[in-house]
Amino acid sequence: MDRRRFLAAGGLAAVSPALAQPGVAKVAPGEDPALFQTVNFYSDGVDYTPAEYAQRLQALAATGALQADNYSLGGAVQALEKTFADALGKPAAMFVPTGTLANHLAVRTLAGADRRVLVQAESHLYNDSGDGAGLLSGLSLVPLGLGGTGMALDEVRSWVERSAGGRVPNRVGVLSIESPVRRRDHAFVPYAELQALCAYARGQGIRLHLDGARLFSLPLHSGHSVREYAALFDTVYVSTWKHFDGASGAILAGEAEVIDGLYHQRRLFGGGLPHAWPLMALAEASVAGFEADYARAWQAAEQVIALLSADARFSMRRIANGTSRFYLRVQGVALPAFVAAAQARSVLLPGAPAGADEMAMQVNLSLLRSPPALVARKLLDAASA
Ligand SMILES: Cc1ncc(COP(=O)(O)O)c(C=O)c1O
Repeated sequence: MDRRRFLAAGGLAAVSPALAQPGVAKVAPGEDPALFQTVNFYSDGVDYTPAEYAQRLQALAATGALQADNYSLGGAVQALEKTFADALGKPAAMFVPTGTLANHLAVRTLAGADRRVLVQAESHLYNDSGDGAGLLSGLSLVPLGLGGTGMALDEVRSWVERSAGGRVPNRVGVLSIESPVRRRDHAFVPYAELQALCAYARGQGIRLHLDGARLFSLPLHSGHSVREYAALFDTVYVSTWKHFDGASGAILAGEAEVIDGLYHQRRLFGGGLPHAWPLMALAEASVAGFEADYARAWQAAEQVIALLSADARFSMRRIANGTSRFYLRVQGVALPAFVAAAQARSVLLPGAPAGADEMAMQVNLSLLRSPPALVARKLLDAASA
């Protein structure tokens, strides 16, 4: 049985009794029990409130283990860089204050003299960074695979050949791939496709970057480890605030020859924060346990879905090659009123565009704060309020 079907069949619970009991409240001793209760279905992470974030930071500082950085060098920043480099199996890693800048620094550095970069048309780098790569670094991005998740090898090959064979040769320097793909409901590019694309690019001397903002949610769904993914690419970016508990930030990992000294470029772009620790100090503690916690969060989500589906008003839709998202259809209930009633019960829903009857639900670690039966009860009550 492949890993995804194994999970769908409930194999996870059979393997680990700990995973069979999702829904353990996550309030540490000494913390205000009124905090850390909200479950959200709209975010990549727990989305701490200011009070929750301040309390966690205070608790960490009280241990005496938290060391300040100096212009994003040393201290907690260096420790986080080492943790991610080890987790990803890369020799070096650098903290960057945003993923937007991490992607930019990666492709700008890898491109060298060959400034044409192949990207997915649906990627963050192409859609959500303005024309920063072109305006600030003289790169020309070529968007491939319009409307899709990945990009076809034939399309890549044809652009590589066309670029090298023009009247003015303008070779492709970098192939950048995002997976999971945010604009495609967080669906992932199948590993075999990545392997084929990367093998071809390597054969052409093209360097490779992975926008793995949410890389750590991939193994549960694809059966391939974060190290397997990272090994295919020269550089890998992982967000430290989407799945982990940072307030902002990113890690860019790769070979030492790419990463060492890159902090000068980070500074050039105004990203050498004088004190980064308040933004990223909470991230490190969540790295080691994330994959197991995320598996438990999905198990909790499956239990909520099963309980809701027993009510004819609710049904769910899965995403092909999906990761952290599913769609929840709610019929015969006005969605805005339902969302407001759920919020009054500490369950935050994403809402939906006017006229839609389904919501794009995110599975994240906040689901571990409350037993699934209670979350389902609150949603059923909200639908009848
Ligand atoms: C896939 C992807 N890459 C990069 C980014 C940029 O990250 P940041 O918001 O930290 O700049 C995002 C943020 O939404 C993203 O979803």
